[in-house]
Amino acid sequence: MVRYRQAGPPVAERALRQAFAQFPSGVTAIAALVDSAALGIAVSSFTSVSLEPPLASICVMENSWTWARLRTADRIGVSVLGAEHAELARRLGRATANRFTPAEWRLTDRGAIRVVGAPAWLECSLEQEIPAGDHVLALLRVEHVETRAGVRPLVYHASGFHHLAR
Ligand SMILES: Cc1cc2nc3c(=O)[nH]c(=O)nc-3n(C[C@H](O)[C@H](O)[C@H](O)COP(=O)(O)O)c2cc1C
Repeated sequence: MVRYRQAGPPVAERALRQAFAQFPSGVTAIAALVDSAALGIAVSSFTSVSLEPPLASICVMENSWTWARLRTADRIGVSVLGAEHAELARRLGRATANRFTPAEWRLTDRGAIRVVGAPAWLECSLEQEIPAGDHVLALLRVEHVETRAGVRPLVYHASGFHHLAR
């Protein structure tokens, strides 16, 4: 049970969302095959955590339908999305069925999903989950990585998708 300190008047959710949205980030596709279905969510809260042991983290809404299934997978794919993946990121960010088209993903031996054309891809296992308010902080152990140099990343800022200037 995590206890949260209540200090001063509560921060209005709208103001908090606006403030958080000023922080630019990349976008990842967290995805795996679960019960023969290709499941994935868009996640901008991906962060590198540790080199030894190799760890990364994501924050996922505690009531996420898809995370409840992805967390049971043997391996979870984390694809850093590229500048060409804005449309896929939108689809992975909506609570709908069939978010992937068949051409967009590849399956690994251990059931993780990798997005075709991603600048970087990490195959992870779930190490630990920590309750964090209305989200869960999931610590991921990185089991395998691949990088494609020279592919521009997708950038998320102020609720919109952007590219890095050359
Ligand atoms: C660019 C972008 C970034 C997102 N980042 C996160 C995130 O870090 N954590 C999260 O829980 N949801 C995030 N979402 C929302 C989830 O992708 C969305 O709630 C989820 O796909 C809904 O499906 P579900 O209800 O089946 O889980 C993001 C959405 C978009 C479009």
